[in-house]
Amino acid sequence: MPEIPMTMFGPVPEGWMWGTATASHQIEGGNVNNDWWRLEHAPGSPAKESSGDACDSWNRWLEDLQLVQRMGLDAYRFSLEWSRIEPAEGEFSLVALEHYREMMVAAHEMGLKTSVTLHHFTTPLWAADAGGWADERMVAWFARYADIVVQHLGDHIDMAATFNEPNVVDAGGYYSGTFPPGITGDRAVYEAAQRTIVAAHERAREVLKAGPGEFPVGLTIALPDVIVHPDDDVESDGLRYDQWDADALVAFNPWARLDAYLETAKGDDYVGVQTYFEMHLDSRGETLEVPESWRRTQIGWSFTPEALGQSVRRAAEVTGVPVIVTENGIATEDDDDRIEYYSRSLAAVRAALDDGVDVRGFFAWSLLDNFEWLHGFGPKFGLHEVDLVTFARTPKPSAGWYARLVEDSRS
Ligand code: NOJ
Repeated sequence: MPEIPMTMFGPVPEGWMWGTATASHQIEGGNVNNDWWRLEHAPGSPAKESSGDACDSWNRWLEDLQLVQRMGLDAYRFSLEWSRIEPAEGEFSLVALEHYREMMVAAHEMGLKTSVTLHHFTTPLWAADAGGWADERMVAWFARYADIVVQHLGDHIDMAATFNEPNVVDAGGYYSGTFPPGITGDRAVYEAAQRTIVAAHERAREVLKAGPGEFPVGLTIALPDVIVHPDDDVESDGLRYDQWDADALVAFNPWARLDAYLETAKGDDYVGVQTYFEMHLDSRGETLEVPESWRRTQIGWSFTPEALGQSVRRAAEVTGVPVIVTENGIATEDDDDRIEYYSRSLAAVRAALDDGVDVRGFFAWSLLDNFEWLHGFGPKFGLHEVDLVTFARTPKPSAGWYARLVEDSRS
């Protein structure tokens, strides 16, 4: 194994959670009954390839839990696939619920906490077809799903998120059109989707809090460090316009408007922060592409691990509730880059902690190399490599590095 540069995190506060995260559609395989699968298979789809069998985690979940355990982590964050639990409106699959229950019982037996997300980008086809998030009936449907989840699984949940990155679901699906259902440029529709999701979150939060089970409830927000440039600065930075969405985003950028989610998080038990990069906007709110001359990740994002420190501070300040880093990581084929990225993002979290910011945990994205949405299986975010033919999992040096950092933080 190559020499691993070792930066330690230092002692963690009481109750701190070290974890790693995945999502159902990205790892389970065969999730044929949701809106993403349909998008992947649509003629002229913007998705590079099908999620197919993904990492076959529907069958290999025990092995996945063992990987988490082997790193000595406290918790595993994963998502429940709504389209498996409720394949048709009002029709619930006891087999799917039992599958997740078995997995959560096993996690507890292995000494791992469960961090459960109810909606991680995928919506069952029946709900998508009935109108998706722009239709306010989704509030009741989502609450009913949350109720079934808590009735069956509540006793096995240690932490719950209603939605993963709802600000990507509304902006991607209902404004820039890159996510299902692919609606572009209609601000009223985008705002309707945002209102519905916020209402669905608040109703589901009540349902989950009613139990069975007693666990913190929140949501997770995609929170890049947004940097707005004055016009003359843009030229000197060498930043240029992103042609892809320049037309749609005149004087308006959903990324600059995360207030609805940060606002609702004020009533939550925690806020989940997910930061990967810096985002640059010009003074009109248009997204600027990161120049090729800058250090960038495998999918063209800026290599700016310190962005996490900014987001954690901002989320804490705006919401006033404890912060949990529910995702952070990098797409790269070079595992040394991954180790450097995590060392620096964690140093930024440490600095925030030392300044008194109430951060309670960190989940690395991701346990496995997996299906990265529109980009397919190319981008490698995992601490473990997955052979897409045999599904064999192999730890990367970064997995060992993370394990050592975690161990050291407890000594
Ligand atoms: C955030 C999303 O929650 C996750 O699904 C995705 O894979 C990572 N970002 C990386 O893009």
